[in-house]
Amino acid sequence: MKGQLLNALIKISAEINSNMELDTLLPDIVKITGDYLKVRNASIMLIDWNTLTINCYTGAAPSHNSLSVKQGIVGDVAGTGTEYIVNKSKNSGKGSKSFLALPLKAGSKILGVFNLTDKDEDFFNEDEVSIARYIASQCALAIERHNIYTKMRANENLQAIGLLKSSVAHDISNLLSIADVYLGLMEEEIDKNSNVYEYIKAVKSEMKRISILATDMLDLSKDKLVIHKTKFAISELINELKLYSEAFNKSSNVQVEFIVKSDDEIVADKNRLFRVFFNLLNNAADAIGEKGRIILSVKRTGKDISFLVADTGKGISKDNLGKLFQPFFTSGKIKGTGLGLAVVQDIIKAHSGRISVRSRLGAYTCFLIRIPKDG
Ligand SMILES: Nc1ncnc2c1ncn2[C@@H]1O[C@H](COP(=O)(O)OP(=O)(O)OP(=O)(O)O)[C@@H](O)[C@H]1O
Ligand SMILES: [Mg+2]
Repeated sequence: MKGQLLNALIKISAEINSNMELDTLLPDIVKITGDYLKVRNASIMLIDWNTLTINCYTGAAPSHNSLSVKQGIVGDVAGTGTEYIVNKSKNSGKGSKSFLALPLKAGSKILGVFNLTDKDEDFFNEDEVSIARYIASQCALAIERHNIYTKMRANENLQAIGLLKSSVAHDISNLLSIADVYLGLMEEEIDKNSNVYEYIKAVKSEMKRISILATDMLDLSKDKLVIHKTKFAISELINELKLYSEAFNKSSNVQVEFIVKSDDEIVADKNRLFRVFFNLLNNAADAIGEKGRIILSVKRTGKDISFLVADTGKGISKDNLGKLFQPFFTSGKIKGTGLGLAVVQDIIKAHSGRISVRSRLGAYTCFLIRIPKDG
């Protein structure tokens, strides 16, 4: 018996040391523990925002998928960090016989609860309780290590953005403005019917993209985006976007359809909002390729102005939906840097607005934005 348990411990330690992915690690631990401690049901529940949610289980499906912290015995273990042990004889009547609910603790932080119920042989002996406690402590360490690892990776991204700060982005913007002046001079001298005139316009449009990208990088490198709000009619913003969207018509025959149901005045940072829709329209154009529809609609919703950007493009998978707003997340593009939507989100947040997205793979994508009308 002792040899078997020792085996289980060695297996679990090896798992924990070799596996950084909680998605596979925790189910393995639950399974090995369930088998070796001979319990019918074992599960791990993790705490997220005061809610305990089942992460994995073996045996019968748990009666609750989620509980609030402090709800019932298991919720109490999660709330107080105190373990709960019942060792009842099989013959003692109703209810589960033997039951262990152990807090998963990393230092003073409670991360979840490890549940072991219905032991085959009536009782958990002292050794088994100690072993279960040891496994719970190892699980907690693995979860904490995973959380730190995830944070570190996010920080690495932020540091990388930090490196791009000031100098590079500034230089790019400045050099582009100089090049833009020369292009302007060329435009004036060239025959307006020549191909070269069209090429210059195309170069200017690409340069605008680069300039916006440089500003995006600069904005993302700041801890908090500072915006400059003014009062303007929504039609002003829409007109600028219409002008810009003509570039799509020319290059890919994709027409952006504007449905404007409000010409209210809004207190916002017009340049930043232009960037929001510039980024969303570019993504939409990338997603539909040569054929499809893009709609940008605006209406008033109570104290907010609601914007919608929808396209009939390739859509976004469920997996990717959760990552869209992370800096550097890009998928399916040759030239994508993955900054566009991160900037969009920052700008909307700085306006105390909200953004949400709906999509179906192979069918459509729709971004919904609400911004307080009066700033
Ligand atoms: N309308 C859309 N339809 C389908 N996929 C989209 C859409 N909008 C965004 N995505 C997906 O989200 C990813 C992230 O978008 P984001 O704008 O942040 O970066 P990007 O477009 O790849 O690069 P860039 O920094 O040049 O904007 C895209 O690479 C794409 O896979
Ligand atoms: Mg983009």
